[in-house]
Amino acid sequence: MKNKKITRKISQGVYVLTTSSGGCVVDAVSQVSAGDNPYISVAVMKSNYTCELVKKNKKFALSVLGRDVSGNIIDTFGLKSGRDIDKFQNVDLLREDDLPVLKDSLGYMICEVIDQIDTGSHILYIGKLVEADVFKDTEVLTYQYYQEHKDEYIRFETMKGKIAWVCTMCGYVYYGEILPDDFICSRCGVGKEYFEKREDA
Ligand SMILES: Cc1cc2nc3c(=O)[nH]c(=O)nc-3n(C[C@H](O)[C@H](O)[C@H](O)COP(=O)(O)O)c2cc1C
Repeated sequence: MKNKKITRKISQGVYVLTTSSGGCVVDAVSQVSAGDNPYISVAVMKSNYTCELVKKNKKFALSVLGRDVSGNIIDTFGLKSGRDIDKFQNVDLLREDDLPVLKDSLGYMICEVIDQIDTGSHILYIGKLVEADVFKDTEVLTYQYYQEHKDEYIRFETMKGKIAWVCTMCGYVYYGEILPDDFICSRCGVGKEYFEKREDA
């Protein structure tokens, strides 16, 4: 493949997927049908705790993040695991259709899982939209904007004096001069193209 990075130009937003007991940041969201109750797909990495939660709950909420979202939300839901922390502890939530949604968002969609496809690394959940609302109409956080302004949202802590490679998907840090071409993140399974080099002097 000449340059897989072109896949990053697929326009998508950034969301927090929640179930009753946890959730995570996702960008792999698409509307895949039309009508009053369109189908919405979301791809969740099998290694994420959230994947198990959606499988059990059979229902999920997507809070749509705006550009003004607090870095704490990205850090809590995108770089930490619900296996280690209670992600809902320090976050303002609303309860909609029995699911927690983020106050710090542009609005939400509630979906009931009607099908799922195993894609190898991810489970693609197909949900039927059953409830939705708009809180405010300000600018949406796109995945591209997030990638270009990451440092405004999160701080990756690395050891001083060492060359570090940070996984921009999950925050995993690999130390070493060179990141091998076939490197796969041991925490979330993404490839080398998702890693950024940091040298904290
Ligand atoms: C901007 C951004 C986009 C992400 N997109 C996805 C995604 O589409 N699917 C996914 O499964 N994980 C995605 N992640 C990674 C998860 O949010 C992350 O691994 C999280 O810590 C998993 O938490 P959990 O173990 O509690 O489920 C993304 C993270 C970030 C920061």
